[in-house]
Amino acid sequence: MCLPTNIETTRFELSQACEEYGFFQIINHGVPEELCYIMMAAMTQFFKLPAKERAQYFTTDHSKPIKLFNYYLKLEGDQHQKVTMWSETFSHLWQPLNSLPEILPNTVCAHFYVWVFGFSEVFAECEKEIGALVKRLLGLISQGLGPEEDCLQKKLGENPTQKAQGNYYPPCPDPELTLGLSVHTDLNALTILRQTEGVTGLQVLIKDEKWVAVDPLPSASVINLAIQGEVIISVNFFHEVTSTCTSRRGVLSNGRYKSVHHRAVTNKVEPRLSIAMFYGPSKDTVIGPTEDLIDEEHPPLYRSYKYAEFF
Ligand code: OGA
Ligand code: NI
Repeated sequence: MCLPTNIETTRFELSQACEEYGFFQIINHGVPEELCYIMMAAMTQFFKLPAKERAQYFTTDHSKPIKLFNYYLKLEGDQHQKVTMWSETFSHLWQPLNSLPEILPNTVCAHFYVWVFGFSEVFAECEKEIGALVKRLLGLISQGLGPEEDCLQKKLGENPTQKAQGNYYPPCPDPELTLGLSVHTDLNALTILRQTEGVTGLQVLIKDEKWVAVDPLPSASVINLAIQGEVIISVNFFHEVTSTCTSRRGVLSNGRYKSVHHRAVTNKVEPRLSIAMFYGPSKDTVIGPTEDLIDEEHPPLYRSYKYAEFF
């Protein structure tokens, strides 16, 4: 998908992609290519730091705003047994600013290039550029749902939660034995993902039956609709939501726009890096149907919740 060529076509393709797949790649998206390159280089630099230096960010406390961690796979049938997946993950706010690595140099290097930016400055710039892209995408998705261009943005609230996550997958001696990242759907509203060119890894479950690789196209970003996006859209824009199930999952499954299951596999030869920029509702945003959709004939079918409660 190419933004913006013919806006009508783009809008149509976007709704179709959201509806059929929940995942798509975009090119010509307006985020400067050099910035994407520097962002990947800065994150690579972080993962190349000696393990001892990286270790100061390692934590199992997921409420920390900046954290380095491994995801675990819980083994079926045994609550306590878990195995680490073949990846390391570094997560921080889009704008990590002062709280971030003095351990990182003030320059970003890749191949023969050196940029005089610190890690925080790079991500501050990404916040501006990728934030603008998210707004454009939300605008286009909104227009596919109804007349208002800013309806999704409004529903996400004033202070969207914006987290960046670098996933680093070292080469794996036996990719058959483990995953890089296990099957999940993202917990935010919309995710923009950039991945190492030329290295396969991301896979998406298409129509609940087939794993399909989303191999990186040159200069492309992968977009996927995440759970909060799906909920907001399903409960506010589609009157045919008729679930009598009160669990969140029940509500989710009625949506026309799906948050799709995905995972990352590893390979034997090359390291792979992906950076997911998660965009979610404000922590205090109440997720539920807008009042004008509720009347005697259409009572709310489930309770609304605050995004913060979701965790
Ligand atoms: C994620 C994710 C996929 C990848 O970070 O949520 O799905 O390819 N990453 O690393
Ligand atoms: Ni994900």
